[in-house]
Amino acid sequence: MYLKCALSVCAVALCAILGIAGSDPDPSADPPAVLRLVDIVLECSLVEEGGGRLSMFASAFSRQPATLVLRKVGVPEHETLDSYTEYQPPPFDPEALIFEVEVTSASIPGAESLLHADCNEQEVTCEISQYYPQDEVPETAWFICSLQVEGGGVSATMVMRTQPITGEVGMEPQKQKKLDLPLSDSGTIQLAAQFNVFTSMPSVSTALGGAVLLDCGFTGEQHIQEVQVEWRVQHKGNGRRVLHFRSDTNEGVSDRPGAQIDSARLAAHRNASLFLPGFRVADEGTYICIVTAGPYQAQQVIQVQVQEPPSVNLVPEALQLQEGVTERLSCEINKYYPLDVQVVWTQSPSSSPSSSPSSPPPSHLPHIYFSSHRQHSDGTYSLSAYVLVNPSTCDAGTTFTCSVSHPSLSEPLTASLTLTLPEESRLWLILGVSMATLIFIFAAYKLVLQWNKGTVAKKGQLKNIKVN
Ligand SMILES: *[C@@H]1O[C@H](CO)[C@@H](O)[C@H](O)[C@H]1NC(C)=O
Repeated sequence: MYLKCALSVCAVALCAILGIAGSDPDPSADPPAVLRLVDIVLECSLVEEGGGRLSMFASAFSRQPATLVLRKVGVPEHETLDSYTEYQPPPFDPEALIFEVEVTSASIPGAESLLHADCNEQEVTCEISQYYPQDEVPETAWFICSLQVEGGGVSATMVMRTQPITGEVGMEPQKQKKLDLPLSDSGTIQLAAQFNVFTSMPSVSTALGGAVLLDCGFTGEQHIQEVQVEWRVQHKGNGRRVLHFRSDTNEGVSDRPGAQIDSARLAAHRNASLFLPGFRVADEGTYICIVTAGPYQAQQVIQVQVQEPPSVNLVPEALQLQEGVTERLSCEINKYYPLDVQVVWTQSPSSSPSSSPSSPPPSHLPHIYFSSHRQHSDGTYSLSAYVLVNPSTCDAGTTFTCSVSHPSLSEPLTASLTLTLPEESRLWLILGVSMATLIFIFAAYKLVLQWNKGTVAKKGQLKNIKVN
């Protein structure tokens, strides 16, 4: 099974149970989980500028297939890795691009999602390009690699530098043809990860008004002290800074009310996550976490979308049809975001207890009329979707249902209305009630009359007594 997958995962021989607690920047954090060190092999591209020197129409970048071998990646011990085999480099080929990376000093938390990706049929995007840090180191080449698991999982950007090749004494190591870099005996370019910026949530969706925590962290050499974090947001071609923080002066500037990073968490856990309270439609966009640590800089991109579910109700709430009159039944879909909403109107016949199970299923109403979208000041939208209802096409007891689908909803929201009795039977009811009332009044009137007669008689008697 595993061997069929496009990227193969190889456990280090015998899968020794090894903790890498020693490389954890803060041992006072959660107790270090027992990690197993494995190799992860990914299909990558080497992306270079200026691919089309000869043609002005060629793209500005060229791509070449490459292989990335991440050595000794810590994954939680419970991962079942028994079926993995050790990575076998292909026969020596100075044309091949195989990057073999030691990641112990800049680990990739959550790297196990790379292990699962291929068998979950998720694509892994892996791009390697040359990198130029602030401080040039002689005889050293640098690369930056961005890794992303499609549809969630970890996203990481790793800065890597070449490692000296120790070959046999007096023997010049062979060089990679394209990059002119010395190759190891197994034909790989040997790199060590120096710095890694990552997020566990490359895309986030949130309802309006809530607080959002955008995850961003980094790992790297122990001695990195000076750290600067900048958060930016890009939306519809406009970019702006959200926050800037520097650890040496412990100073932060927030350009968006309430935006914060926790400086203690940054210092202790290298956690640069951004806290944004009261999220608005205007906050939506592509967030970029840029971490500068010592000579290195790398960034992570997090897509943040608002998903606000609509409220759905019908106007009017009750409907009574009259012969020859067409009524408008409107489904009011209010205050949702984003714009894409789908509305279906159905009609199902009266469901009297006598109706057989073979009664026809709800039918879709073919003609739905839409208002234009109305946008509220908070950025949300409202829409009305109405149908015209006519007594000639439906009976009393017919139920009309409006169902609304929206990206924020796992299943459609519905609102229904059942037609009340038609006018005819209604008239009989009114007539009956009126009759009963009349009879009651009549009876009461009679009673009063009778009682009055009695009183008059008594008065007469009294008079008679006086006269006597
Ligand atoms: C940063 O801290 C928050 C809050 O404790 C946590 O949810 C998040 O996973 C942390 N992220 C990193 C990258 O350490």
